[in-house]
Amino acid sequence: MTDSNDRAGKSYWDANWGQTDIPSAVDPHAPGLQHWPSSRFHGEFVRAFAQASIRPGARLLEIGAARSAWLPYFAREHGLSVTGLDYSDIGCAQALEVMRRAGVSGDMIKADLFDPPANALGRFDVVVSFGVAEHFKDTVGAIRAFSRFVAPGGVMLTLIPNMVGAIGALQKRLSRSVYDIHVPIDRETLASAHREAGLEVVACDYLLFSNFGVLNLNGVPERTPAWLVKKGVLALAGRLSMASWRLDPSGRLPPNRLTSPYVLCVARSAGERETDH
Ligand SMILES: C[S@@+](CC[C@H](N)C(=O)[O-])C[C@H]1O[C@@H](n2cnc3c(N)ncnc32)[C@H](O)[C@@H]1O
Repeated sequence: MTDSNDRAGKSYWDANWGQTDIPSAVDPHAPGLQHWPSSRFHGEFVRAFAQASIRPGARLLEIGAARSAWLPYFAREHGLSVTGLDYSDIGCAQALEVMRRAGVSGDMIKADLFDPPANALGRFDVVVSFGVAEHFKDTVGAIRAFSRFVAPGGVMLTLIPNMVGAIGALQKRLSRSVYDIHVPIDRETLASAHREAGLEVVACDYLLFSNFGVLNLNGVPERTPAWLVKKGVLALAGRLSMASWRLDPSGRLPPNRLTSPYVLCVARSAGERETDH
């Protein structure tokens, strides 16, 4: 796998994580509108794990787990044994710190996902990734690389931002450099990439009606007139999403190609799972 496949690159992520605060672990039951997306994600995970008979003690790997707010969630809410993988040194250190602060034990593998240690392959009942697959020009190759970590009969959940819709159009105008490290992938392309990689697609769809909170201004010089205007647009867009959550707390507004912030694919690997947990 050559570097030209990786639209962002390790130095981009190292610099990025060096500038951001360490997040708190996800708590899907926390009160407040800002936690609404996490509670919807929680519903998706509960459903996918029930379908795949994932029980406490099962092994989960998060690919691209730098500073992950999700690893403690999977340990606390689902009783899973959690591991993260990332090639960013600082990102791995921050992920361990998030787990330490949450009182959760878990491992981090510092490795390139395309060249991982052999003992990580075929070992995990659940493999998740949040915003990783779309950073590679070869989508099928990336999904195939992710799938190598899944145990026979295990489940893989791939979440990407929906850059073919309004999120992509706005991100392009707010920060072209952020937009350019993404490959826009729609629902159909994500599903077919999983099939081409040899997985069985259980479900693949747009997720949530709105969340402009996924937009960011990385790469825009701060405190310039353009930055101030873009900050205002970002704040307004964020309020629009929050208004939609307030008006539609049970999430009846249909996820769709135009307004949805994410695409989520749930897929199974071939074979029978060993259920010793
Ligand atoms: C958008 S971030 C994922 C989100 C991040 N976990 C968070 O909480 O915001 C993508 C992550 O994938 C990692 N990554 C990208 N290419 C990789 C590779 N070839 N091997 C391992 N990690 C990689 C990056 O270091 C980065 O941390």
